[in-house]
Amino acid sequence: MEIFSLNNKTAIVTGSAGLIGKYHCEALIEAGANVIAVDLNKEKCDDVVKELGRNIYSYKVNITDKNSVEGLKDFTVNNFGGIDILVNNAAINDMVEDPKSSIENSKFENYSLEDWQRSINVNLTGVFLCSQIIGKEMLKKSSGSIINIASTYGLVAPDQSLYTSCNGEQLFYKPPAYSVTKAGVLSLTRYLSSYWGKAGIRVNSLSPGGVENGQDENFINKYSIKTPLGRMAKPYEYKGALIFLASDASSYMTGANLIVDGGWTAW
Ligand SMILES: NC(=O)c1ccc[n+]([C@@H]2O[C@H](COP(=O)([O-])OP(=O)(O)OC[C@H]3O[C@@H](n4cnc5c(N)ncnc54)[C@H](O)[C@@H]3O)[C@@H](O)[C@H]2O)c1
Repeated sequence: MEIFSLNNKTAIVTGSAGLIGKYHCEALIEAGANVIAVDLNKEKCDDVVKELGRNIYSYKVNITDKNSVEGLKDFTVNNFGGIDILVNNAAINDMVEDPKSSIENSKFENYSLEDWQRSINVNLTGVFLCSQIIGKEMLKKSSGSIINIASTYGLVAPDQSLYTSCNGEQLFYKPPAYSVTKAGVLSLTRYLSSYWGKAGIRVNSLSPGGVENGQDENFINKYSIKTPLGRMAKPYEYKGALIFLASDASSYMTGANLIVDGGWTAW
């Protein structure tokens, strides 16, 4: 199993305080890496670090701010001597279960320019900035693995019928910015993989399907019926794919998109 080992590697995970980010950190630690858990929400990030306990350090970063990302790079290099793995995981994801997600605000015709720009800023510009600043550091060692967390919604359009009540009333529309930014992440992955291929940096995407996280029963049932495996994901079910992409187990893989979605995009 040596090819999956991340011993002596240093990894940065953005959005570590979120639902899936914590499990990305856990996976990398279990494979042997030191992890810098990064988030805008330092308190929640500290909780994750406390919970996971070893070989993990919390650092507050706004991924849309160049100086903030430069600070993260300097902190990591000064303390660990370099950066081997970057997981671009932080994102804005408007969700049906969010109390702010009203039907009127989520309609394409009403979707605000502010919300659109906020998503572009975090989901795309944030990935661009982290890849640029940390990738530049990886170039010094001619080695690195960048994993961009995309989504099934970067590949296929949201099925808006998921967001209806039992009697068919539309409750919410999954907004356009999420799909568009995740498609952009897939494109940036391909761009960087070809740009940095000979320089020794591999760049791949991981596209998760929907994670069960307190949605109502009606939503979970509808999502499950539309998924060949018949259920939503558990937040830890991306750990194997992440270790694969981070490690030498995927040494001949770059520019690819690993889809882990219970079959959502298969039919
Ligand atoms: N949850 C799902 O069902 C699902 C499905 C497919 C893809 N994804 C993708 O997986 C990734 C993680 O999703 P999640 O559900 O854990 O999200 P989440 O909303 O739980 O966590 C996102 C984290 O990113 C942080 N963040 C936001 N803006 C930031 C900024 N400017 N700088 C630094 N940190 C910032 C937030 O504070 C939060 O902790 C995202 O890229 C998401 O699009 C999630």
